[in-house]
Amino acid sequence: MTPPILEARGLSKSFAGMVALDNLSFSVNEGEIAGLIGPNGSGKSTVVNLISGVLVPTSGQVVMRGQDVTGAPAHQMARRGVARTFQMIRLFGTLSVEDNIALALQQKEGPGYVSSFFRTPAARRQRAAAGVTAREMLKLFDLEEKASDLAADLSIGQRRMVELARGLASEPTVFILDEPAAGLAPHNVDRLIEMIRRMRDEFGVTILLVEHVMRVVQSVCDRVVVLDYGQKIADGPPAEVVNQPEVIEAYIGLGRGKNA
Ligand SMILES: Nc1ncnc2c1ncn2[C@@H]1O[C@H](COP(=O)(O)OP(=O)(O)OP(=O)(O)O)[C@@H](O)[C@H]1O
Ligand SMILES: [Mg+2]
Repeated sequence: MTPPILEARGLSKSFAGMVALDNLSFSVNEGEIAGLIGPNGSGKSTVVNLISGVLVPTSGQVVMRGQDVTGAPAHQMARRGVARTFQMIRLFGTLSVEDNIALALQQKEGPGYVSSFFRTPAARRQRAAAGVTAREMLKLFDLEEKASDLAADLSIGQRRMVELARGLASEPTVFILDEPAAGLAPHNVDRLIEMIRRMRDEFGVTILLVEHVMRVVQSVCDRVVVLDYGQKIADGPPAEVVNQPEVIEAYIGLGRGKNA
Protein backbone atom coordinates (compact mmCIF):
# COMPACT_ATOMS: atom_id res chain seq x y z
CA MET A 1 0.00 0.00 0.00
CA THR A 2 1.36 3.45 -0.84
CA PRO A 3 1.94 5.54 2.27
CA PRO A 4 0.03 8.83 2.61
CA ILE A 5 1.76 11.72 0.88
CA LEU A 6 1.77 13.63 4.16
CA GLU A 7 1.45 12.56 7.79
CA ALA A 8 1.49 14.36 11.10
CA ARG A 9 2.42 11.85 13.80
CA GLY A 10 1.79 13.00 17.33
CA LEU A 11 2.78 16.57 16.53
CA SER A 12 3.04 18.93 19.48
CA LYS A 13 4.25 22.50 19.61
CA SER A 14 4.64 24.74 22.62
CA PHE A 15 5.48 28.43 22.60
CA ALA A 16 7.15 29.46 25.87
CA GLY A 17 5.25 26.77 27.74
CA MET A 18 1.92 27.47 26.04
CA VAL A 19 0.72 24.34 24.23
CA ALA A 20 -0.44 25.45 20.77
CA LEU A 21 -0.66 21.93 19.36
CA ASP A 22 -1.14 18.76 21.35
CA ASN A 23 -0.31 15.31 19.97
CA LEU A 24 -1.93 15.83 16.58
CA SER A 25 -2.02 12.96 14.12
CA PHE A 26 -3.60 13.01 10.69
CA SER A 27 -2.70 12.02 7.18
CA VAL A 28 -3.35 13.33 3.70
CA ASN A 29 -3.51 10.93 0.78
CA GLU A 30 -2.19 11.72 -2.66
CA GLY A 31 -4.70 13.61 -4.77
CA GLU A 32 -6.88 14.50 -1.83
CA ILE A 33 -8.22 17.93 -0.91
CA ALA A 34 -8.02 17.77 2.88
CA GLY A 35 -9.45 20.51 5.07
CA LEU A 36 -8.09 21.75 8.38
CA ILE A 37 -10.60 23.81 10.33
CA GLY A 38 -11.09 25.04 13.87
CA PRO A 39 -11.77 28.21 15.84
CA ASN A 40 -9.28 31.09 15.94
CA GLY A 41 -6.13 30.15 17.81
CA SER A 42 -6.82 26.41 17.63
CA GLY A 43 -3.44 25.73 16.02
CA LYS A 44 -4.13 25.57 12.27
CA SER A 45 -1.38 27.92 11.12
CA THR A 46 0.99 26.22 13.55
CA VAL A 47 0.31 22.94 11.70
CA VAL A 48 1.02 24.69 8.39
CA ASN A 49 4.26 26.13 9.78
CA LEU A 50 5.37 22.73 11.11
CA ILE A 51 4.68 20.96 7.83
CA SER A 52 6.25 23.65 5.65
CA GLY A 53 9.42 23.76 7.75
CA VAL A 54 8.93 27.23 9.23
CA LEU A 55 8.69 25.79 12.75
CA VAL A 56 10.24 22.70 14.36
CA PRO A 57 7.85 20.63 16.51
CA THR A 58 8.38 20.24 20.24
CA SER A 59 7.67 16.54 19.70
CA GLY A 60 6.21 14.29 17.05
CA GLN A 61 7.00 13.84 13.39
CA VAL A 62 6.24 15.18 9.96
CA VAL A 63 6.36 12.35 7.42
CA MET A 64 6.26 12.65 3.63
CA ARG A 65 5.61 9.48 1.64
CA GLY A 66 6.78 7.42 4.60
CA GLN A 67 9.98 9.42 5.05
CA ASP A 68 10.62 11.36 8.25
CA VAL A 69 11.18 15.01 7.31
CA THR A 70 10.75 16.47 10.80
CA GLY A 71 12.72 19.66 11.24
CA ALA A 72 13.66 20.04 7.56
CA PRO A 73 13.93 23.78 6.86
CA ALA A 74 11.45 25.57 4.60
CA HIS A 75 13.65 25.60 1.48
CA GLN A 76 14.14 21.83 1.80
CA MET A 77 10.41 21.25 2.17
CA ALA A 78 9.91 23.44 -0.91
CA ARG A 79 12.38 21.27 -2.81
CA ARG A 80 10.45 18.22 -1.66
CA GLY A 81 7.41 19.71 -3.32
CA VAL A 82 5.61 21.43 -0.46
CA ALA A 83 4.29 24.86 -1.44
CA ARG A 84 2.20 27.13 0.77
CA THR A 85 0.38 30.39 0.90
CA PHE A 86 0.38 32.65 3.96
CA GLN A 87 -2.57 33.81 6.00
CA MET A 88 -1.34 37.37 5.47
CA ILE A 89 -0.63 37.60 1.75
CA ARG A 90 3.09 37.78 1.06
CA LEU A 91 3.92 39.07 -2.38
CA PHE A 92 6.75 41.33 -3.47
CA GLY A 93 4.72 44.51 -3.76
CA THR A 94 7.30 46.39 -5.80
CA LEU A 95 7.66 43.60 -8.38
CA SER A 96 5.25 42.99 -11.22
CA VAL A 97 2.69 40.20 -11.05
CA GLU A 98 4.66 38.27 -13.66
CA ASP A 99 7.95 38.62 -11.75
CA ASN A 100 6.28 37.50 -8.53
CA ILE A 101 5.30 34.27 -10.23
CA ALA A 102 8.62 33.81 -12.07
CA LEU A 103 10.51 34.35 -8.83
CA ALA A 104 8.69 31.43 -7.22
CA LEU A 105 10.28 29.13 -9.77
CA GLN A 106 13.70 29.95 -8.36
CA GLN A 107 12.61 29.19 -4.83
CA LYS A 108 13.29 25.49 -5.12
CA GLU A 109 16.95 26.40 -5.74
CA GLY A 110 17.36 27.26 -2.07
CA PRO A 111 18.65 30.27 -0.12
CA GLY A 112 20.28 33.02 -2.11
CA TYR A 113 17.89 32.72 -5.00
CA VAL A 114 16.68 36.29 -4.74
CA SER A 115 20.06 37.81 -5.58
CA SER A 116 20.98 35.18 -8.19
CA PHE A 117 17.61 35.70 -9.83
CA PHE A 118 18.74 38.93 -11.44
CA ARG A 119 22.48 38.50 -11.98
CA THR A 120 24.26 35.38 -13.27
CA PRO A 121 23.92 34.12 -16.89
CA ALA A 122 22.57 30.77 -15.65
CA ALA A 123 19.99 32.63 -13.61
CA ARG A 124 19.05 34.66 -16.69
CA ARG A 125 18.44 31.46 -18.67
CA GLN A 126 16.39 30.08 -15.82
CA ARG A 127 14.53 33.32 -15.75
CA ALA A 128 13.61 32.99 -19.43
CA ALA A 129 12.18 29.52 -18.77
CA ALA A 130 10.46 30.83 -15.67
CA GLY A 131 8.92 33.57 -17.79
CA VAL A 132 7.26 31.03 -20.06
CA THR A 133 5.75 29.17 -17.12
CA ALA A 134 4.76 32.45 -15.48
CA ARG A 135 2.82 33.47 -18.57
CA GLU A 136 1.03 30.12 -18.64
CA MET A 137 0.07 30.66 -15.00
CA LEU A 138 -1.11 34.20 -15.72
CA LYS A 139 -3.41 32.82 -18.38
CA LEU A 140 -4.73 30.03 -16.17
CA PHE A 141 -5.51 32.43 -13.34
CA ASP A 142 -6.96 35.09 -15.61
CA LEU A 143 -4.24 37.59 -14.77
CA GLU A 144 -2.82 38.26 -18.24
CA GLU A 145 -3.97 41.87 -18.25
CA LYS A 146 -2.35 42.42 -14.87
CA ALA A 147 1.05 40.90 -15.82
CA SER A 148 2.99 44.17 -15.62
CA ASP A 149 1.07 45.71 -12.74
CA LEU A 150 2.84 45.93 -9.41
CA ALA A 151 1.54 43.30 -6.99
CA ALA A 152 0.88 46.06 -4.45
CA ASP A 153 -1.63 47.68 -6.81
CA LEU A 154 -3.90 44.62 -7.12
CA SER A 155 -7.18 44.01 -5.34
CA ILE A 156 -7.20 41.39 -2.60
CA GLY A 157 -8.99 38.91 -4.87
CA GLN A 158 -6.33 39.32 -7.54
CA ARG A 159 -3.52 39.06 -5.01
CA ARG A 160 -4.93 35.76 -3.77
CA MET A 161 -4.93 34.50 -7.35
CA VAL A 162 -1.29 35.58 -7.77
CA GLU A 163 -0.42 33.63 -4.62
CA LEU A 164 -2.08 30.53 -6.03
CA ALA A 165 -0.43 31.04 -9.42
CA ARG A 166 2.92 31.47 -7.72
CA GLY A 167 2.50 28.29 -5.69
CA LEU A 168 1.28 26.24 -8.61
CA ALA A 169 4.15 27.52 -10.79
CA SER A 170 6.58 25.80 -8.43
CA GLU A 171 4.93 22.47 -9.39
CA PRO A 172 4.16 21.36 -5.87
CA THR A 173 3.12 17.85 -4.90
CA VAL A 174 1.41 19.27 -1.82
CA PHE A 175 0.02 22.80 -1.76
CA ILE A 176 -1.00 24.15 1.64
CA LEU A 177 -3.42 27.08 1.60
CA ASP A 178 -3.83 29.10 4.80
CA GLU A 179 -7.25 30.77 4.72
CA PRO A 180 -7.31 31.67 1.03
CA ALA A 181 -10.92 32.90 1.21
CA ALA A 182 -10.28 35.41 3.99
CA GLY A 183 -11.55 38.83 2.99
CA LEU A 184 -12.84 37.73 -0.42
CA ALA A 185 -16.13 38.89 -1.94
CA PRO A 186 -18.58 36.06 -2.80
CA HIS A 187 -17.78 36.03 -6.54
CA ASN A 188 -14.08 35.74 -5.72
CA VAL A 189 -14.88 32.85 -3.37
CA ASP A 190 -16.56 31.07 -6.30
CA ARG A 191 -13.45 31.61 -8.38
CA LEU A 192 -11.24 30.34 -5.57
CA ILE A 193 -13.34 27.17 -5.27
CA GLU A 194 -12.99 26.61 -9.02
CA MET A 195 -9.23 27.10 -8.96
CA ILE A 196 -8.65 24.84 -5.94
CA ARG A 197 -10.53 22.08 -7.76
CA ARG A 198 -8.63 22.65 -10.99
CA MET A 199 -5.24 22.55 -9.26
CA ARG A 200 -6.12 19.08 -7.98
CA ASP A 201 -8.01 17.77 -11.00
CA GLU A 202 -5.85 19.16 -13.81
CA PHE A 203 -2.45 19.38 -12.13
CA GLY A 204 -2.69 16.47 -9.71
CA VAL A 205 -1.75 18.62 -6.72
CA THR A 206 -2.64 17.33 -3.26
CA ILE A 207 -4.14 20.16 -1.23
CA LEU A 208 -4.27 20.89 2.48
CA LEU A 209 -6.77 23.67 2.95
CA VAL A 210 -7.00 25.73 6.14
CA GLU A 211 -10.23 27.66 5.91
CA HIS A 212 -12.89 29.38 7.98
CA VAL A 213 -15.34 29.86 5.15
CA MET A 214 -17.45 26.70 5.42
CA ARG A 215 -18.88 27.07 1.93
CA VAL A 216 -15.37 26.54 0.56
CA VAL A 217 -14.64 23.61 2.89
CA GLN A 218 -17.92 21.88 2.13
CA SER A 219 -17.67 22.28 -1.59
CA VAL A 220 -14.06 21.22 -2.16
CA CYS A 221 -12.83 19.03 0.70
CA ASP A 222 -12.89 15.24 0.54
CA ARG A 223 -12.10 15.10 4.23
CA VAL A 224 -11.80 17.52 7.12
CA VAL A 225 -9.72 17.51 10.29
CA VAL A 226 -11.10 19.71 13.07
CA LEU A 227 -8.88 21.28 15.72
CA ASP A 228 -9.89 22.81 19.02
CA TYR A 229 -7.34 24.07 21.55
CA GLY A 230 -4.59 22.34 19.60
CA GLN A 231 -6.26 18.92 19.68
CA LYS A 232 -8.02 16.98 16.96
CA ILE A 233 -11.71 16.69 17.76
CA ALA A 234 -12.99 15.29 14.47
CA ASP A 235 -11.74 13.78 11.19
CA GLY A 236 -14.07 12.75 8.38
CA PRO A 237 -16.14 13.85 5.39
CA PRO A 238 -17.27 17.50 5.72
CA ALA A 239 -20.98 16.70 5.76
CA GLU A 240 -20.50 14.37 8.75
CA VAL A 241 -17.98 16.43 10.64
CA VAL A 242 -20.04 19.64 10.72
CA ASN A 243 -22.87 17.80 12.48
CA GLN A 244 -20.71 16.33 15.24
CA PRO A 245 -21.60 17.77 18.65
CA GLU A 246 -17.93 18.45 19.59
CA VAL A 247 -17.48 20.47 16.42
CA ILE A 248 -20.67 22.46 16.90
CA GLU A 249 -19.67 23.11 20.52
CA ALA A 250 -16.17 24.26 19.50
CA TYR A 251 -17.65 26.80 17.12
CA ILE A 252 -20.58 27.89 19.29
CA GLY A 253 -18.17 28.09 22.22
CA LEU A 254 -16.40 30.93 20.45
CA GLY A 255 -17.83 33.28 23.05
CA ARG A 256 -16.05 31.44 25.85
CA GLY A 257 -13.20 33.90 25.70
CA LYS A 258 -10.37 32.05 24.06
CA ASN A 259 -10.00 34.49 21.21
CA ALA A 260 -9.17 37.53 23.25
N1 LIG B 1 5.23 32.23 16.91
C1 LIG B 1 4.40 32.14 17.95
N2 LIG B 1 4.79 32.52 19.19
C2 LIG B 1 3.97 32.42 20.25
N3 LIG B 1 2.71 31.96 20.19
C3 LIG B 1 2.25 31.58 18.99
C4 LIG B 1 3.07 31.65 17.81
N4 LIG B 1 2.33 31.20 16.75
C5 LIG B 1 1.14 30.86 17.26
N5 LIG B 1 1.08 31.09 18.58
C6 LIG B 1 -0.06 30.80 19.47
O1 LIG B 1 -0.44 29.45 19.23
C7 LIG B 1 -1.85 29.31 19.22
C8 LIG B 1 -2.30 28.75 17.89
O2 LIG B 1 -2.07 29.72 16.90
P1 LIG B 1 -2.33 29.49 15.36
O3 LIG B 1 -1.86 30.71 14.66
O4 LIG B 1 -1.75 28.19 14.96
O5 LIG B 1 -3.92 29.40 15.34
P2 LIG B 1 -4.92 29.37 14.09
O6 LIG B 1 -5.79 28.20 14.28
O7 LIG B 1 -4.15 29.47 12.83
O8 LIG B 1 -5.76 30.70 14.33
P3 LIG B 1 -6.46 31.71 13.26
O9 LIG B 1 -7.73 31.06 12.85
O10 LIG B 1 -6.69 32.94 14.07
O11 LIG B 1 -5.50 31.91 12.14
C9 LIG B 1 -2.41 30.69 19.52
O12 LIG B 1 -2.68 30.78 20.90
C10 LIG B 1 -1.29 31.62 19.13
O13 LIG B 1 -1.34 32.82 19.85
MG1 LIG C 1 -4.10 30.83 11.31
